[in-house]
Amino acid sequence: MEFQVEVLEQSFKAILPKEEAFAAAFYDRLFAAHPEVKRLFSGVDMGGQSAKLVGALAVVVENLRRPEVLEPVLRKLGKQHAGYGVKPAHYDAVGAALLGTLAAFLGSRWTSEVKTAWGMAYGAISSLMLQGATAGAAGNPAAGPPERAVSQGPRNSPKSLQTPLLRL
Ligand code: HEM
Repeated sequence: MEFQVEVLEQSFKAILPKEEAFAAAFYDRLFAAHPEVKRLFSGVDMGGQSAKLVGALAVVVENLRRPEVLEPVLRKLGKQHAGYGVKPAHYDAVGAALLGTLAAFLGSRWTSEVKTAWGMAYGAISSLMLQGATAGAAGNPAAGPPERAVSQGPRNSPKSLQTPLLRL
């Protein structure tokens, strides 16, 4: 994965002080454009979910320079999402809502450079998540190269893979 790390970090930093409003606006935008997605979240505490969304984005942005950490986490997250009933087309819906919300919150800071950086980052994130989803659906446990999984040691235990995503 090649990212425009500084551009992403700077723009994400501008969002963080408004993270609750950001998350609420993101879900409003997603559900307005794609009401069919709402059923996936039935019974989900949306307050907690908003924190997870922004927390997950924070972890992704923080770890952009460490793809060896990020990639297995995203594959695993994608596999979990397949279990929630998330389909590939939903990733486009979420991507559009995310970029639209970023544009709304960043205002004049939403330059074409920032837009391209987020578009590419979301594309890479969602394709890794979808790889994980496919690996799971095919009954293939290798959501990533097995030798890498082993060499990562404790980071790869299912529990610790989730921990950093949920801690923030
Ligand atoms: C960049 C892409 C995405 C990221 C980083 C992300 C992040 C997360 C995280 C961290 C969780 C919590 C996992 C857990 O509690 O174990 C979660 C749950 C969930 N996500 Fe996503 N997600 C993404 C894309 C999507 C998409 C495309 C959909 C479909 C509309 C979706 C729907 C859900 C649902 C339904 C849950 C489960 C909520 C629950 O049952 O508590 N996510 N997501």
